[in-house]
Parts: sequence; structure tokens; C-alpha cells
Amino acid sequence: MNIVVVGSGIAGLTAALHAADAGHRTTLVAKESLGGGCTALAQGGVAGVYGPGDSPAAHASDTMVAGAGLSDAGAVEVLVRDGSARIAELIARGVAFDRDADGQLLLGREAAHAHARIVHAGGDATGAAISRALVQRVHEADVEVIEHALLVDLLVGEGVVHGIRMLRDDLLVGIHADAVILATGGAGRLYAHTTNPDGATGDGIAAAVRAGAAVADLEFVQFHPTVLAAGLGDAFLISEAVRGEGAALIDDEGRRFVFDVHPDGELAPRDVVARAVAKKAALQGAPVRLDATMIGAARLAGRFPTIDRVTCEHGLDWAREPIPVTPAAHYLMGGVVTDLDGRTSVPGLFAAGEVARTGVHGANRLASNSLLEAAVFGARAVAAVGRGAAAGKGAAAEARLRLAPLAHPEARLRLAPLAHPVSSPAASLPPLNDPQLSSARSDLPMTSFTGALSERSETKRGERAAGESKPPFSREHLQHLMWDHVGLLRSPDGLAEALDTIRTWREAAPAPTTRAEHEDANLLLVAEATASAALTRRESVGAHHLDHEPALIGA
Ligand code: SIN
Repeated sequence: MNIVVVGSGIAGLTAALHAADAGHRTTLVAKESLGGGCTALAQGGVAGVYGPGDSPAAHASDTMVAGAGLSDAGAVEVLVRDGSARIAELIARGVAFDRDADGQLLLGREAAHAHARIVHAGGDATGAAISRALVQRVHEADVEVIEHALLVDLLVGEGVVHGIRMLRDDLLVGIHADAVILATGGAGRLYAHTTNPDGATGDGIAAAVRAGAAVADLEFVQFHPTVLAAGLGDAFLISEAVRGEGAALIDDEGRRFVFDVHPDGELAPRDVVARAVAKKAALQGAPVRLDATMIGAARLAGRFPTIDRVTCEHGLDWAREPIPVTPAAHYLMGGVVTDLDGRTSVPGLFAAGEVARTGVHGANRLASNSLLEAAVFGARAVAAVGRGAAAGKGAAAEARLRLAPLAHPEARLRLAPLAHPVSSPAASLPPLNDPQLSSARSDLPMTSFTGALSERSETKRGERAAGESKPPFSREHLQHLMWDHVGLLRSPDGLAEALDTIRTWREAAPAPTTRAEHEDANLLLVAEATASAALTRRESVGAHHLDHEPALIGA
């Protein structure tokens, strides 16, 4: 099989390694250098069941509770069942998780976990350790690596994905594949303040939507409660593991205010803590502070070397005084709908990691479940591709048969300039409401965004008129609009206003040609889908919170 994996965080690297191990012809396409993206920035760790008294059932229960009851029990069961094998695999591939003097894995504590169960590496540099090891393994494996290539669109024919189109060195090129595994991460760059790197522009979600794939739960955007509020540059995460070690969130009077809203205080589910932090900051007109002084200088430096260094660079001594913190957009619970094997609603297309909506996270992801989920479902997607091929009836196999004229004779990889000039990707794709595109997998729990797009065309005229007084589009304007109205605290009026503005901007947007324009188009599409989903969900649940109080926060 000829498999193209798009994205090189833990989901993409895992999928590529599994695909190569299984003997598939594997191509890994990365937007930046291999290993760029969110994974390398992850601090806390990977949730694993190792501690005394812990069990997969307890991990599953914590995941369901944090997900506010909206997680899919089947997906959660798969996560906790496959999880230990994936952590063992990471160790076997060279990830040196931190251990005690007896060689036992050290386990951190994070919010909403009933047990200490977070395996970590380099103290607070878990993602970097994972990324480094897996990138090294990929370089050693039989994987063709293409770096600095932006996913522009999925190639779709007869309702089947059979490759990708990407922008590389200002050239639009196509790669044909029997199966495409999206591992492109989330869309944190929708927001003015985010822990996500520049590349988190929702490229995979947008491409999947344009290909007709179902997406769901986009209204559930997780805001991390504690990033450094130092006012300099990008939001820098202060890991939840710091609170797990005993750090307290305090207001101007030194009070631990999170206990006012939840008996678990700082270790309550992340959405609860983030809202409490935002509201307190709005009330007192200044960021709240994280007091980690009780942990002690030596322990802080040893357990959290990265945070220790960065706070010091900002002129803060967190061993001696509380540091200012504020929430920032961190993780997208929703995404491209998949089944338990990473299959999307479009044959030939799989998804794993943050781009996917597997059903694990529900309305609020449990801390440190993301790296685990990415590894588990990245591996399962490859296994499913292989099973489909073995059965000779998988989507990918069907694609190869049906699309024979497009297949390269060697079927290894086809990297050829496309015949048509760089233009709007949507222009060369079937219309979004093409029944062929929403064909398959009626068994999946899906809400297709295509409906929202059709509705958009119907209301076009009125929106244009309303939009005449709106500010012109810029990425910064979009990020502030999303922050203000589709953020941590939402109101129906704010959501409606945001949706109207986003639609106006989308209407006016020129066909993208440059990388930045493609990213903007993707951000706008995902923004519209997110605002639309948020407006549709009328009750507060998990990370989707309807509240009229202002969210005066920002890194
Ligand atoms: C953190 O270290 O607080 C982030 C962990 C996560 O997002 O799961």
C-alpha cells in the first residue's frame, strides 16, 4: 500500500513508523521541519496506568468525567486499553521517560486524575523527548520525508480520497496515495492567545471539510488555565503538573479562589479552572497568580527545568514569588469525525491526533490524554489501512482500482506539478453538497459542516449588506474576534455577531495562492465551523460555556 501521512507530531510520526514497519510505502509530509508542531512543546506528559491502585477503568472514568459525559465510551475504552502498549512502544523507540533510583517510571499528578499517572521526560520536556526519538526513528526507517509542505487539499474522485495536493517552494504539487492519514494537529491560531505554534492553522480540518468529511465537536475548544502572563511574545505554558505538585492559584488578596467553584480547587477539570481564572482576572482587573513557592527552588528547577529557565528569562523568580498567569487557547477537542480505527466519513481518508474527533475527549479533554490518544489512534489507523488492503475491499484498495488512470505505475510516490495553475482549491473540487461526498459510513456519529456552508450561500446577500461596516479581514482581527466572542466565555449574541463577521470575510476572500493566504482561508473556514457549532449548542457543557461576563484576559 502507498500511504501518505500528513503531519509530524506524535500522531503522524507514530503512523509513519507503523506504516513503514508494516511494509507500506510510506511518505510523511510535514508543514515545517520534521517534528515541528505542538507535540514538541508538550510539557506535562502522557497519561499511563502504572501507579498503585490505578487501573484502566479508573483512567477511563476520569476521562469520561472530565469530558462532561460527552466522551464516547467505546473510544475511551480503546484509549485506556491500547495506551500501555503505545507507551511501551515509545520507550522501545527510545523515549527516556523519567525514572526513580530503582528504575520505576516517575508519575506526575495533573488535574482531574484520581491517581498520579503522568509519565514524563526531561522533567517538563516530554513532548520534545518524544519528538526527538520518533524523528530519529523515522530518519532510520524506510519513510520518504517531505518537509516544509503545506497541505492544500485532498484529492478526491468518485467520493474517495486518493492523495493530497500541497504547496511546496511556491509550487502546487500532488501526491497520489492508496490512503491518506491526516495528523495535522489543531487550530490554536484561531485565537489571539494560544499555546500553539504558528503552524496550527486548521489545515487538515479545512481540507477534510472541503473533501466532504464530517466534522464534529468544534465548539469544544480547550483553554489552558495557566500560561505566563508576562506580556511578551507567545503564550508560554506553565504545566498543570506544577499544580499537581501543589502550586496554588491565588487572587490579589492571596486567596485560593478556585475552591469557590469546585471542591478540587486547582485540580478541578481544566475548563472549570480556566473559567475561574478568567473571571477572577476580570473582576480584579489584573491576572491571578500561581504560587509555586512551597515546592522549593531545588524541586522546581529539577522537575520543571524548562519553566524554570523561561520564567527566569522573564525576570521572575517563581521559587520566591507567585507568578502572573492567564488562560490561552490550547487544544481542540473536536475535529474530523473518525471511528475507532481512525476512518473518516470519506473512504481513503483517516485522521489521528488533534485533527481527529475520535470521541475520547467529549466536551473537555483530560490532561495528558492527547499524546496518548494520538499514539493510540495513529497506530490503529495504519492497522485499519492494512486490514482493508488484506481484505481487498478497503477504501484505499477501492480507490486504487477505481482511479487507475491516476495511479503512478510504480505507485511509490508521485510528485508532479499539477496541470492547472495555483488557484482556489475549492474551485477544482466537487461542490461541498455533492451527495457523493457525504456518502459513506452512515454508522458514524457525524455532524457534517457542509450544511452550514450551504446555508451560508443562501444568506449571502443579507450578510454582505450587514458586513459593509465590518473591519477588513486580517488574521489578527480574526484572532481577536474569536478570542472575544468564541472563546472561554460566550454569549449567543456574541457568537452570532462573530459568525456574521466571519462569513462576510469568507465571502470577500480572494482565491488563495500564497501559503499565508491558504492558511487564512483554512482559519476562516474552521472559524466559521466553530462559531456555527457553538451557536447551535444552546446549553453550557464542558469547554462550551455561555456566560455574559466579560473575559478580560490575555497573555
Ligand atoms: C500541561 O502540561 O499542562 C499540558 C498537558 C496537556 O495539555 O495535556
